[in-house]
Amino acid sequence: MCGIIGYTGKDIAVPILLGGLERLEYRGYDSAGVALLEGDKLFIKKRAGKIRELVRSLWGKPLKGKTGIGHVRWATHGEPTEDNAHPHTDSKGEFAVVHNGIIENYLEIRKELEEEGIKLSSDTDTEVIAHLISKFYKGDLLEAVLEAVKRLSGAFAFAVISSKEPGRIVGVKEGSPLIVGIGEGENFLASDIPAILPYTKKIIPLNDGEVADVSPEGVNIYDFSGNPITKEIMIVPWDLISAEKGGFKHFMLKEIYEQPKAVGDTLKGFVSKESVLPIDLREFRRLIIVACGTSYHAALIGKVWIERFVNIPVEVIYASEFKYGHTPLSPDDIVMGISQSGETADTKFSLQSVKEKGVKTIALVNVVGSSIDRESDFSIYTHAGPEIGVAATKTFSAQLAALYSLAAFYSMEREALFKKVSSVPMKIEKALEGAEHIEVISEKYMKAKDFLYLGRYLNYPVALEGALKLKEISYIHAEGYPAGEMKHGPIALIDENMPVVCVAPKDRVYEKMLSNIEEVRARKGKVISIGFEGDGTLKELSTEFIEVPSVEEELTPFTTTLPTQLIAYFIASKLGLDVDQPRNLAKTVTVE
Ligand code: G6P
Repeated sequence: MCGIIGYTGKDIAVPILLGGLERLEYRGYDSAGVALLEGDKLFIKKRAGKIRELVRSLWGKPLKGKTGIGHVRWATHGEPTEDNAHPHTDSKGEFAVVHNGIIENYLEIRKELEEEGIKLSSDTDTEVIAHLISKFYKGDLLEAVLEAVKRLSGAFAFAVISSKEPGRIVGVKEGSPLIVGIGEGENFLASDIPAILPYTKKIIPLNDGEVADVSPEGVNIYDFSGNPITKEIMIVPWDLISAEKGGFKHFMLKEIYEQPKAVGDTLKGFVSKESVLPIDLREFRRLIIVACGTSYHAALIGKVWIERFVNIPVEVIYASEFKYGHTPLSPDDIVMGISQSGETADTKFSLQSVKEKGVKTIALVNVVGSSIDRESDFSIYTHAGPEIGVAATKTFSAQLAALYSLAAFYSMEREALFKKVSSVPMKIEKALEGAEHIEVISEKYMKAKDFLYLGRYLNYPVALEGALKLKEISYIHAEGYPAGEMKHGPIALIDENMPVVCVAPKDRVYEKMLSNIEEVRARKGKVISIGFEGDGTLKELSTEFIEVPSVEEELTPFTTTLPTQLIAYFIASKLGLDVDQPRNLAKTVTVE
């Protein structure tokens, strides 16, 4: 959902901004741009398309500016054209703004500005910010920004520079993420940590309602009324290596292979703990989990574990449906938000609405210091490291590890459950050994128009997640379904052209899955089954059989997920598609 970066310091800004934008490109990639302070003038360059277009257009330009801002866009208002690309400026070209989020009242402001004779040159909601700042400017950029912010509603983060005040960047956060990076003789603003990781690990995550006034000498933070705020500096635990491809063709493939470590590290974070939360989950009447996308699928698996091992009812609701719904809440309920980024708007706003009702919230996030982490009453973490591929893989497995640990922790069988799960990283490693076979199968089915994914019990969400992965990166229509429900509709879709991925480990519903597979076979569907190694019966029934190591039934999602990720990866990659940055998607969705 758009990425922004700002640099002011001792070095030439353009390579730092472009490098940062490349690491933010996962947030949006339909256009990109930079604004630099070159002497006492603003230099702006923007291009539609991927960041390499911008880099090409800057090639050979003698740019010396040491202060600048940059942007990668995921279009919300206005098509992804050069005119609509950021930075946007005021009419005199003295103020340049990059923005992530949505200015909900921009039409009203636009009308007012037009009535005052100002001509707007884009269809975006962002441009009004630059004009407002210019209008309110009376010699101090911070004051003009604070004045402009009073007029804006919506969820946004933006950064602004001005030719009138070289060396200064002002950044504003209200709803969308923004962090400050602290360097030596240089300072940064960015939507996310990887953008500035080569330069500093010292960051200050801004809260909503805060403004950062950044210069090479220092950073001052204020609230929207202009009162100074003292903030603590956080040290990021990641290194740059973990945010680079490390020899893999795509980030997604690297991240698939990082799953043993992501799961192992996350489990370690729980096993040795005296208490994982400063409250006892068992004292609550009900746990509600809100999440989006892949995190929602992890929540569905977590529900089964928590209900089975802790025996408290768990409801899982799409965050985008929760906030505007009518779920009755009482102080006996507790609400958990699961979000790898910790910034997803739907999840964040759902949790905020819960807190307003006096109900306690728990965050399960991968990014320490993210908005959801900071705004929740309690937090637990996955330790997956930065995930760059837009389609979530290792954060999903790490979320499973965290949810399993949570259930184990509050269960009567704590020791035994932790003991069982300790072998999972090794089993995942083993499951990954099947990649070559999966690649061959993927090639056979890559031309299919539709896929069906079936599973039951703990592997029903695995089917949902498998179908989501395929849709996200290969653009092939895929549907995940509870296998038992197939007979109530989707069975009508099955013919000899339909590959049906059946997730069928030997668990309590194995026999039922075999019957469902027979139903698919009877309609000539192509059965691609995922089951335990050496399962001759399943192999016999299947057109293609993918083995995963056998584990106890409660652990099956950890291994059955892997083939579904690899199928999606190989199909997309063989179709020549942009696996890490699929069309129309963004890694962190900061709009509702
Ligand atoms: C986007 C991403 C998905 C992700 C979802 C939720 O749609 O493309 O991969 O699952 O957001 O993200 P979160 O950061 O809240 O887990």
